[in-house]
Parts: sequence; C-alpha cells; structure tokens
Amino acid sequence: MTMQNEEWKIVTKKTALKPARISATIKKNHNFQYLGQDSKKKNRSKNVMQNSSENVIYFIEEKMQAIKKSVFFQELKEIIDFQLLPPNRPTLVDIVCYGIGSIEKSSTSQYQFALMLLFKNLFQITGKIYAYDPILSQVDTEVLTHYNIESIKINEKAKRAVTNQTLFYMPHCPLGLYNNLIEANWDRIKLKDVIIVGNRLDFYNERMTTASLERKAPYIIPALKILQIHLFPSTTIQSLAIPDSTFNDLCWQWFPIDRINAYEEDSEFWILKRESDEDPEII
Ligand SMILES: C[S@@+](CC[C@H](N)C(=O)[O-])C[C@H]1O[C@@H](n2cnc3c(N)ncnc32)[C@H](O)[C@@H]1O
Repeated sequence: MTMQNEEWKIVTKKTALKPARISATIKKNHNFQYLGQDSKKKNRSKNVMQNSSENVIYFIEEKMQAIKKSVFFQELKEIIDFQLLPPNRPTLVDIVCYGIGSIEKSSTSQYQFALMLLFKNLFQITGKIYAYDPILSQVDTEVLTHYNIESIKINEKAKRAVTNQTLFYMPHCPLGLYNNLIEANWDRIKLKDVIIVGNRLDFYNERMTTASLERKAPYIIPALKILQIHLFPSTTIQSLAIPDSTFNDLCWQWFPIDRINAYEEDSEFWILKRESDEDPEII
C-alpha cells in the first residue's frame, strides 16, 4: 500500500482555490489549498492539516473526477452497457465492499473507493452500500458515514449470504475471502445474485496446484465451472497515470443462470461442506 503523500493547509478566503465539486460540508467548514508533495517540507506550519476526514473526502472527490474523465472509465462503462450480463445491465440492489484498505492512508484505496462510488451512480443502486475492512481507522469510518455507507460491525470474513442482487466489491482481497463468500452463497438461488468485482479467480487455478487450491479455497474450483469472467480494461495506467497495482487483475465475475442450471441435477456439485484451511491473510 502506498501512503498518502499529499498535504493541505487552511488558507484565507481571499487566496483560496476553488476546488472542483468539493462537498457542501467541506465548503462550509474550510477552504483548502493544495500544497502538493514538493511543498511538504517547506510548510511544516501549525496550519498544516493532516488527514482529516475532510481532506480524505477531498482526495476521493478529486480521484472520482480523474477516473470519470479517463479512457479507462469510458471503456469500463462500455463493458457494463454492452457486455456485462447481456443484454441488460444487472439491477443491483446493494453493494458490499470488503478489503478496500485504509482510505485515509492509501491512495490506491482512495482510487478503488472512488470507483465504487461511481458504480453506485452507474448502477443506480436502490439499496445500501456496506463496507468492512478490519484495518479501517476512525477517519475511514467518518468518510464512510459521509458517503452514507454503513460500516459492517462484525468481522463476517465475507461469509454473507445474499438476499438480493448484490455487487461484492473486493479489490485485491485475500483468496480465502472470495472462497468464504462463494461458500456462503453456494446454492442455485443465491449464486445468481452474486456479482464480484475482484481478483480473477481463474488465476489462482493457473498459479496453484489443484491440491493446494482445494485445501485453501475449495469452492473456487467448482465455482470456476459456472463463473463468467469479464476483465477490466487494460488502459488504466496510460489514461489515469496511477500505479498499475490499483486496478490490476480486477474483473467482473458472476454466475449466469444457464450455467448454474446446467448443474441442477448434479447433487455432488452442490455439496455444502468442503473443508478448508483458514487463509492466513484473512484478519
Ligand atoms: C492486499 S490488501 C488490499 C487492499 C486494497 N484493496 C488494495 O488493493 O491495495 C487486502 C485487504 O483485505 C483486508 N482484509 C483482511 N481480512 C479481512 C476481513 N476479514 N474482512 C474484510 N477485509 C479483510 C486487509 O485488511 C487488506 O486491507
């Protein structure tokens, strides 16, 4: 994770720069001037504000604008409009976000979070957004509240069964969390409502031996038989000038109903209990 290197100071009304689309709350309470990384050492005055939730919200708003203007986002929208669950885009009700990292401290997490907020609008989410990462700070939680996102109170380790069509936004999560999510929804009714934005699950199959994958994440192998994968655009770095690691290997993954139904009669396939080792990367 990269730490947030940018820095802000309070300025008077006269010299304040007008930030684009700054939230009403921030506008009311503060005027900020962007100092940038180079001026960091020069401005160690008592006016310098470290990462308050207002600062972080500002960073996120900036990143939302940057993503919106990018070729990457245009391509992502085309995928959603024309290729994701054709012929219609899914009518998502909720978004559940796991493992975003610290939005306060990581600019990667800020970009990922900004993209999730854009998805909220694109899909016209009618339900709620929920989020959980055990490392979230107080500032992170305040940022979630600002965007009307409900912090999940317990560590459910992604074992959440869906009650309606849900986008699970899980960028670069530990393998065990994807496994737990699939396990919790391992039946024909629930699986069709699970859409995952996360690491490509077929990569694990390529990179690990079958025995190791079966031991660590036993639901991945059967899931791959019915999983549809659509990659994110590969134009990220050029169009956004952000680290390759921000959206790399991410894709849409879902379980089309015809693929699920192909296994309708196969009771072996739907066996519920597959034992696994606890993933040490899960906190
Ligand atoms: C590899 S980091 C990815 C962080 C960020 N999304 C990124 O791409 O830089 C994995 C994240 O999963 C989170 N995580 C670990 N256990 C978790 C759990 N039980 N529930 C939700 N998130 C968890 C970690 O705290 C960490 O932020």
